[in-house]
Amino acid sequence: MGDNMLKPNFKEAKKRTKEDIKVLRNEYKIPNDVKNLGFNKKYFIKTYGCQMNEHDSEMISAILEDMKYTRTDDYENSDLIILNTCAIRENAHNKTFGMLGRIKHLKQKKPGLMVGLAGCMSQEESVVEQIISKYGWMDFVFGTHNIHKLPEILKEHITSKELEVNVWSNEGNVIEGIPFKRDSKYKAWVNIMYGCDKFCTYCIVPFTRGKQRSRMPEDIINEVRELIKKGYMEVTLLGQNVNAYGKDFTNRTYRMENLLEDVAKTGIKRIRFITSHPWDFTDKMIDVIKRYDNICNYIHLPVQSGSSTILKLMGRRYTKESYIELYNKIRDKLGENCSITTDIIVGFPGETKTDFEDTLKLVKKCKFDSAFTFIYSPREGTPAAKMKDNITKQEKEQRLYKLNEVINKYSKESNDKLVGKVIPVLLENVSEKDSTMLAGYSDTMKLVNVKADKKYIGQIVNVKITDAKTWSLDGEINE
Ligand code: SAH
Ligand code: SF4
Ligand code: F3S
Repeated sequence: MGDNMLKPNFKEAKKRTKEDIKVLRNEYKIPNDVKNLGFNKKYFIKTYGCQMNEHDSEMISAILEDMKYTRTDDYENSDLIILNTCAIRENAHNKTFGMLGRIKHLKQKKPGLMVGLAGCMSQEESVVEQIISKYGWMDFVFGTHNIHKLPEILKEHITSKELEVNVWSNEGNVIEGIPFKRDSKYKAWVNIMYGCDKFCTYCIVPFTRGKQRSRMPEDIINEVRELIKKGYMEVTLLGQNVNAYGKDFTNRTYRMENLLEDVAKTGIKRIRFITSHPWDFTDKMIDVIKRYDNICNYIHLPVQSGSSTILKLMGRRYTKESYIELYNKIRDKLGENCSITTDIIVGFPGETKTDFEDTLKLVKKCKFDSAFTFIYSPREGTPAAKMKDNITKQEKEQRLYKLNEVINKYSKESNDKLVGKVIPVLLENVSEKDSTMLAGYSDTMKLVNVKADKKYIGQIVNVKITDAKTWSLDGEINE
């Protein structure tokens, strides 16, 4: 063990080169010796991260099924376990290591079990060192850039019978032609770009996902057309920073507004896109969203903080004033029905009581439909991790609590406004909380539980809202 390991390196991962981005179409192959590796065997995959991470799991599943594995939701009865990890905050790490502890016991009872680590944690130097020194019983580690090499990595491991570490620090290319096993029959994730070049000072993503690379518009449109043929109703265009789509093209000026328009013209029933960075949100984008009914009136626009001092320390490139200006412009142009959600971090190094009050003020001004809120978590290798952090844990928890109170109040208010109204909902499955109801999302991304027959699953139906809660709505079909 050791000589032929390919370990991640943050210095390499940080580099951004001007080299042209190539589209590679023939990278995915299954070597003959592993074609039937999964025959009569089951795999279990657990996903810890964001939508992109979920979509990567759909890719990993398809690759394993290409090798004849079948899926199970019971890890104790599986032959192959893959943890597709997230590195965004400390608790994501802790969950993964907790799970590895349980799997270690299982592996002692079942030596034939294969266990692999994938995702953003695999891209972290310190994690891989820890795996090598303390988790040598594991079988393989691969990263976010070489998922398509999984068959070859398994082959290597089976030959060497040793921990196979194969992580690429940076990827400058776009790889096409890898299959997906989609979790839903009605809505699909569609990658439009990979990586991120924003380097917000707290964030690990530019290290774990590499430089920004946009997929060719033709490949995206073709994928959407194929999805329509298969009966899909909704696509979510995925990128860490979707409004910067196309900025890395050297031979064409084709941007997010062009892509949104071309995807809208395919006729797919619903289009969502996440995540929008306030920096690159253009008027042209707003116009296209307004012009096409199938582009959902839902914008996730992370603000992170309401203090311009903290925003500057975060490297977000906008001020509280310019954020509010953009926010109001979107609301004015898209109308009151548009829903806008956000992400907020509390307890960033140096955040004073006044900075935090500024965040509360911004929330009170914007009245977000909902928000994801987090306590700042230092990530090794990022600039913010070196900043002096003198706020106590207790103070951070109090700020989070206060913030959530205000956020929840506005979530409830925005939901209350919908009572009595009729809104379209894509019914996806039986409701988790009440088996006599179906659940789905409105075009504005509100979770709606609907009294309806199962035959409506997979359809967009008009629903009359009868009751509003903080995180969901209740309704009945209105035909
Ligand atoms: N690309 C998106 C965010 C992706 S990460 C954007 O720029 O908006 C999702 C959210 O996790 C971020 O919006 C941020 O609120 C939060 N986050 C990222 N790094 C974090 C950290 N170190 N500690 C706490 N929260 C963090
Ligand atoms: Fe992270 Fe900022 Fe990139 Fe979002 S834009 S992924 S927060 S570095
Ligand atoms: Fe986590 Fe990686 Fe997504 S760090 S949030 S899984 S890009």
